Amino acid sequence: MNFELKFTALDALHSANTDALLVLVDSTHQAQLDKLKKTKASSAKSKPSTPLSISEWIANSLHSEQLQSKTARTQILWNVPGVSAQALILAHLGDGHEKDLKSAINAAMGVLKASLPKCVHLSVYLCDVTGQRLQTAMQTIADSVYIYTTTKPSAKVSTLSKVSLFAPALGRSAQGQKDQSSALEAFKEGHARVQGMAFAKEWGNRPANHATPTLLGKAALGLTKYSKIKVQVLGPKEVAKLQMGSFISVAKGSLEPLRFIVMQYNGAAKSSAPVVLVGKGITFDTGGISLKPGAAMDEMKFDMCGAASVLGVFKSLGELSPKINVVGLIPACENMPDGGAVKPGDVVTSMSGQTIENLNTDAEGRLILCDALTYAARFKPRAIIDIATLTGACIIALGHLRSGLFAVQDPLAQQLMSAGERTLDPCWRLPLDEEYAEGLKSNFADTANVADRSAGSITAAKFLQRFVGKMNWAHLDIAGSAWKSSGPAKGSTGRPVPLLLSYLIDQAQAADAAQASPGQKA
Ligand code: BES
Ligand code: MN
Ligand code: ZN
Repeated sequence: MNFELKFTALDALHSANTDALLVLVDSTHQAQLDKLKKTKASSAKSKPSTPLSISEWIANSLHSEQLQSKTARTQILWNVPGVSAQALILAHLGDGHEKDLKSAINAAMGVLKASLPKCVHLSVYLCDVTGQRLQTAMQTIADSVYIYTTTKPSAKVSTLSKVSLFAPALGRSAQGQKDQSSALEAFKEGHARVQGMAFAKEWGNRPANHATPTLLGKAALGLTKYSKIKVQVLGPKEVAKLQMGSFISVAKGSLEPLRFIVMQYNGAAKSSAPVVLVGKGITFDTGGISLKPGAAMDEMKFDMCGAASVLGVFKSLGELSPKINVVGLIPACENMPDGGAVKPGDVVTSMSGQTIENLNTDAEGRLILCDALTYAARFKPRAIIDIATLTGACIIALGHLRSGLFAVQDPLAQQLMSAGERTLDPCWRLPLDEEYAEGLKSNFADTANVADRSAGSITAAKFLQRFVGKMNWAHLDIAGSAWKSSGPAKGSTGRPVPLLLSYLIDQAQAADAAQASPGQKA
């Protein structure tokens, strides 16, 4: 999808060369339009044949209540005199909150798909041009036209290939120019974000036989087309040398060889400590010997969505080139039951030296992540964030809206929370009290991999915490947010690429600002 951003007045759009024109109407429009209508009425006597401007059409629609001032109410007008676009779609923003913008665009996209399925070029007029609004619009449009085709080439894809975003011209004043350039910045970031999300969705959606650990490694290597990205893919021999005994034990029941993917995005000076992202890459989770029940087991192809989000973030970084260093680590393997598989009660030695009693082979995510977390320490990261479809319990706790967030240090938790709020990719913090680790005690190893059923997401996080030492660590449990499990929208959501990317850009900007004024420490 090609996006472009332009600045112009609403009424200049009557001649825009486009298939459909979507105007997002908010309540501030109403007053403005009423005024317009009055002046027009007084001048109408002298020039009775002038066609109505777009603003006047909107004013009429609002007046006649064909377009109600409620969020996501829409109206479609065909072949409006004086307007080049075939269809003029009006969608009301209600109070104009970020979520309302998303609902309004989704409603309008529904109308567009139903009534103009051959639309190639859509133009969208945003009545207000904050960077956040621009990005929300782009993200919502990209989401609504996304269709997975890799193993279904016959799928009917959208014809929509170009989206022009129009924002009111901001004038030639210094402030106007500044606002315009910050809108352009936000636009670029939004574009990188939707590309990263699409990449994450693509890999998340692929069935396990089309997204093996080997293929994930190849996908990562493909990202080296961006000059700032370097990738190394380690196989079983190298991983054995690293003594990742816990990771290796999970892969033992599968014929697919494991991969440990190490990605580096170098956007800042070598001396700048990186952020490390660790993504759970279980390409299929049968549960192993602690076999899962059959119902909906297909969804365990999504058990690598953490890994897919890391790939997606790297795609975005490659596109955007922010000034930051980022490391991406992906332990990737299948969790299968067979003669070679790890058994309940087996004790393995992790890379950290800690021994682990495997009481349930279905709690495998934490077993591959713990070795990756140990490995991460060598980068001396300023922050380390793991992303994992880790526990069904997280869906019970938070449903499908918010990802679970765990963090030792408050600033990191706050930065991630706020990045999620801004990007409509929200998370919610859960506690890490030491008492929650009680149940992980084992008579046969330094730790067990599971406790009892209560607070399952927290005990999983407590297990991971044993492997992060003093690092500034956060854990995102995306079991509920990474994919939609039923209905026509079944598939990967591309989350939490928006949250992570926004956090990283914040970090890059903070470092930049600190460099510009070295006296003041941020
Ligand atoms: N990948 C699953 C978690 C999961 C389940 C995510 C369903 C989304 C939907 C994970 O490996 C797992 O099986 N976790 C177990 C842990 C339990 C054995 C302590 C779970 O959640 O049941
Ligand atoms: Mn499992
Ligand atoms: Zn799993």
